[in-house]
Amino acid sequence: MSRPKISVIGAGNVGATAAMRLAESELGDVVLVDIVEDMPQGKALDLMEMGPVVKYDVNITGTNGYEETADSDIVIITSGLPRKPGMSRDDLLATNTKIVTQVTSEVAKKSPNAILILVTNPLDAMTYVAYKTSGFPRERVLGMAGVLDSARFTAFISMELDVSVDNIQAFVLGGHGDDMVPIARFTTVAGIPITELLPQDRIDALIQRTRDGGAEIVKLLKTGSAFYAPGASAVQMAESILKDKKKILPCCVYADGEYGIDGTFVGLPVKLGRNGIEEIIQVKLTKKEKEELHISASHVKELCERIHELGHL
Ligand code: NAI
Ligand code: 2OP
Repeated sequence: MSRPKISVIGAGNVGATAAMRLAESELGDVVLVDIVEDMPQGKALDLMEMGPVVKYDVNITGTNGYEETADSDIVIITSGLPRKPGMSRDDLLATNTKIVTQVTSEVAKKSPNAILILVTNPLDAMTYVAYKTSGFPRERVLGMAGVLDSARFTAFISMELDVSVDNIQAFVLGGHGDDMVPIARFTTVAGIPITELLPQDRIDALIQRTRDGGAEIVKLLKTGSAFYAPGASAVQMAESILKDKKKILPCCVYADGEYGIDGTFVGLPVKLGRNGIEEIIQVKLTKKEKEELHISASHVKELCERIHELGHL
């Protein structure tokens, strides 16, 4: 039986980190694609040489084309520019739309049955671009953001309360932008809502730090954006799909009436299994939470309209 195939497009910081996590987890053979000549080949060879140390048995191939990606089970798309200090994710819109359009059309031709996991920013809009370009059903086009945003919220709660990250279940909805919607009353520590454990002003501070989590790292790194947690987050989604774990993870998905949102991509809780999106979990939100989610979704919608105005789709 052949192993599953996972292609990672863009062999930069996030792509290479994801490739390493995929290999370490032995989720399947990995194909690393980039436009920079020789670079993905070099990183793939380096990862093959890491196998004997860490003891994984998978093939990792680097390439500048798409032949090797044929019949991938999953394609993780990270190609595009990252943010520089002072830039918002939306500043990347025009350039990354062109890149994601080109990459997705190549990927869709070679792997018509793949599940796509988008990482490129602005995330929700780029997931829409991949959805439109591929023509794949919504079950097979997802964006990674909520897993990362929840991980950040979890990390900050863990630091604040000095408890294991393993005890914490964070709940974040909405787009991957400054208006993401971390929901405190569904965020628990050993089953206890954090609203029982922390005063409101501390919860508000942790939520704000989560919203600013990407920018905090950009400011520190100066030459790029976060990649360890993002790479690991994309791989967690791939794992739930390939192992048919049916984990409920916050993912960027095409809402078709769920939560009263119609016709746009936004972060919602999703059951992820071998078919991709197997269910969008709906919970009752308060009026304020619902309003915040709708504001976030309308921001994504505006970005997607801008893409059409720019004539890119
Ligand atoms: P990076 O600059 O390290 O890597 C991007 C790679 O894409 C480069 O190696 C570049 O050569 C490649 N590339 C550009 N055009 C290409 C094309 N047409 N075909 C194939 N490869 C191409 O950037 P990094 O840090 O890996 O970030 C990648 C993207 O992911 C950025 O847009 C960043 O903003 C986004 N991101 C999103 C996150 C999320 O939560 N959704 C988290 C972290 C990053
Ligand atoms: C992040 O949240 C830049 O979107 C990226 O780190």
